Amino acid sequence: MTTQDTVQSPSLRSQRLNQITHEPHTRLDALVKAHAPFESRASFARFVVAQYLFQSELVSLYNDAQLNAIVPDLCARCRAEAAKADLADLDTDVPAPVAGAVNNPGKPQALGWLFVSEGSKLGAAFLIKRAVGLGLSETFGARHLGEPAGGRAQGWKSFVKTLDGLSLSAEEEAELDKGAIDAFNRFTVLLEQAYATTPEIA
Ligand code: HEM
Repeated sequence: MTTQDTVQSPSLRSQRLNQITHEPHTRLDALVKAHAPFESRASFARFVVAQYLFQSELVSLYNDAQLNAIVPDLCARCRAEAAKADLADLDTDVPAPVAGAVNNPGKPQALGWLFVSEGSKLGAAFLIKRAVGLGLSETFGARHLGEPAGGRAQGWKSFVKTLDGLSLSAEEEAELDKGAIDAFNRFTVLLEQAYATTPEIA
């Protein structure tokens, strides 16, 4: 394989996912920043609403027996409860579910969603530093952005190693990619929804 081939078609599955989600990630990053979540606790609470909705939609995937057989510590990685506790810290109601949640995806698609959810813990390292400026921390208001047990880098590395080690058909690879792209689209919808809703007066 030539160097050029390597650039055009990454040999590792996780690298391919990074590549195909680069643009949606850049757009989402800009959208998050456009909503200025660190300008006030009220704005941050809207961001937490989006995070909570996203995480709560993924609970059934994090708890799925088959997926836990693939990723052994999967159920411990879920952040729905942490996000829910953050909402309580921020005196914000638990939002009603938003139509259009992922529903019983096949295994490869589910892994695409989980790739995005797990990957978002990397960006969270930057976000939590900003949350500290609002008087929040991984034990109050910004729990869902906290360092996972065992470390952020380690958790990501082991997830990616598992993902890269799976044997998938070409069709399943396409399903995986679809799951990852759908996850970015969904977070975008939930973020817009969260900021469109009038914040509760704390
Ligand atoms: C719902 C999904 C995601 C959201 C909402 C999200 C959001 C963000 C935001 C807002 C930042 C900027 C932090 C700052 O500059 O203060 C960021 C950075 C980052 N994100 Fe994500 N992200 C998501 C998914 C992912 C995924 C899937 C990966 C990895 C595959 C990832 C890897 C990173 C990394 C490494 C950074 C640090 C700096 C950079 O390279 O841009 N994120 N993310």
